Amino acid sequence: MSMPIAFYICLTLILFIFSGTDGYFHHRLVQCRYSSKDLHGIEFIDSYVFNKAEYIRFNSTVGRYVGYTELGVKNAEAWNKGPQLGQEQAELERFCKPNAALHYRAILDKTVEPHVRLSSVTPPSGRHPAMLMCSAYDFYPKQIRVTWLRDGREVKSDVTSTEELANGDWYYQIHSHLEYTPKSGEKISCMVEHISLTEPMMYHWDPSLPEAERNKIAIGASGLVLGTILALAGLIYYKKKSSGEVISV
Ligand SMILES: *[C@@H]1O[C@H](CO)[C@@H](O)[C@H](O)[C@H]1NC(C)=O
Repeated sequence: MSMPIAFYICLTLILFIFSGTDGYFHHRLVQCRYSSKDLHGIEFIDSYVFNKAEYIRFNSTVGRYVGYTELGVKNAEAWNKGPQLGQEQAELERFCKPNAALHYRAILDKTVEPHVRLSSVTPPSGRHPAMLMCSAYDFYPKQIRVTWLRDGREVKSDVTSTEELANGDWYYQIHSHLEYTPKSGEKISCMVEHISLTEPMMYHWDPSLPEAERNKIAIGASGLVLGTILALAGLIYYKKKSSGEVISV
């Protein structure tokens, strides 16, 4: 399984302009994009964004500015003739390449194993009466593969998955669902492949009741036993007492 690593080091320059209660938001996003440790495919991107619309971008692979709005196109035309262009073209060598080793050591080389939980969930009313969810939490980097196996063979139909969702703390989570019709004796497993794992991890579905359900049943049964004992004790006590009274008379 190949795991491309993409990473962006971002510098953001932000400018707010407020007029009354409405605001304008201008920002500039500078990225070094690394896709391989040998720096193959490295890119420098410099984006200018007004409100949420990017209007001009320098892309080191393209080698010049490209505009996306009327203003952007005008600026691109001017900036591609001006002294900024040479500076932008030099940033890849000056900034991105010398910092690559640092970023790989600090972040990109790190891997964190997912925590995986397999659970039964309510299916959306559909073709199948049952649904399992395989959730992988807190892994890094983002790339992951979650697949379902039924008696050792990969299941492709009736499988849906979320994207890899960013927690916002560098880690990711993903949730894959399998809708199915249970068959007795079959074995359903969720397989997780991630760069942090030396081999794919398998999680087998145990169709017996989940622990919470077992606990509820155990508590209920204990209550029943305790109640029966108390009732019997009361009954015996009552009988003894009433028969004793009869004798003493
Ligand atoms: C930069 O330009 C190249 C060549 O057109 C393109 O493949 C790449 O996706 C662009 N990168 C970004 C971040 O837009």
